[in-house]
Amino acid sequence: MSAPTLEIHIAPEQLTAALREDVATGLTSSPKRLPPKWFYDARGSELFERITQLPEYYPTRTERSLLEEHAREIAVIAEPQVLVELGSGSSEKTRLLLEELGARGTLERYVPQDVSESALRDATNRIAREFPEIEVHGVVGDFTESLHHLPSGGRRMIAFLGGTLGNLVPDERREFLASIADVLDPGEHLLLGVALVTDPAVLVPAYDDAEGVTAQFNLNVLSVLNKQLGADFDLDRFRHVALWDPINEWIEMRLEATTEMSVRIADLGMVVPFGKGEQLRTEISAKFRQSGIRAELAAAGFDGVQTWSDPDERFALVCACRS
Ligand code: SAH
Ligand code: TRP
Repeated sequence: MSAPTLEIHIAPEQLTAALREDVATGLTSSPKRLPPKWFYDARGSELFERITQLPEYYPTRTERSLLEEHAREIAVIAEPQVLVELGSGSSEKTRLLLEELGARGTLERYVPQDVSESALRDATNRIAREFPEIEVHGVVGDFTESLHHLPSGGRRMIAFLGGTLGNLVPDERREFLASIADVLDPGEHLLLGVALVTDPAVLVPAYDDAEGVTAQFNLNVLSVLNKQLGADFDLDRFRHVALWDPINEWIEMRLEATTEMSVRIADLGMVVPFGKGEQLRTEISAKFRQSGIRAELAAAGFDGVQTWSDPDERFALVCACRS
């Protein structure tokens, strides 16, 4: 086995600069908002792993069983030599793909990319140990920025699992799918895992669990601001809110101020006022319809779209070919 390599495509100083800009813009907007990538410091990544194990959080186990059932078909369709994964996190479910791709003997490299360096280091070490015949190269980077540094050479498949596509707002999503189409060569594949529109009685608890892990995860973004930017958010004065927006067909995660307060963000020289009951939007998690995702993929430059979903139609794997 060769040791996994790690490439820092976005350095800690650049990350801090991006965080400063997002906070300065987002907390002076009306309504206030923050982009979701700032959830994932080491503690955020750990909390997310706990979310994936909650009884209410069906997406992870549903996607895992779809991968168990269909990884072989996906391997036959795409036959990649290089598997690139965006927002790979713990790479936990990806092992099912790596097993099948490895068994076919075509796969040479696995290139996971994530903003969370800690999650990426753990994942690359574990995968390299478990799959000694595959070269593992991690990339610390932001998938909403240019994807042009992705590896070239060898037939590639880009995997984007976990329903993370739904965390992009529609404009970002369009741009993201177009840039994936742009970096792929004709005949290469994109594999998406997307959550489908389903009963709100199932959807909402997945983002508002009884144990309160999701609440801790959502509130953790305020700790990130406290640590990274010297802010003084009092986490006890915010509460987690998850609601289903039936028009946009997305779950919206918010943090609601339970009292009026002023928050100081020392490193930005900013004081941010919150009214009692004021809400800060931290994330959307869009749910898809199979017809809608097919149309978006076609518009971005993909064809030969195949989908697999569970019997309750709560989650889908979508494999698309760059045309
Ligand atoms: N794919 C894993 C993790 C999903 S959680 C799964 O299916 O369980 C979303 C992951 O995307 C996290 O690991 C987070 O760190 C990463 N992420 C979020 N925004 C990102 C961005 N803009 N660029 C790169 N990675 C990002
Ligand atoms: N990609 C995950 C999803 O949309 C991220 C996620 C799960 C999440 N639970 C969350 C983000 C709670 C914020 C808050 O399902």
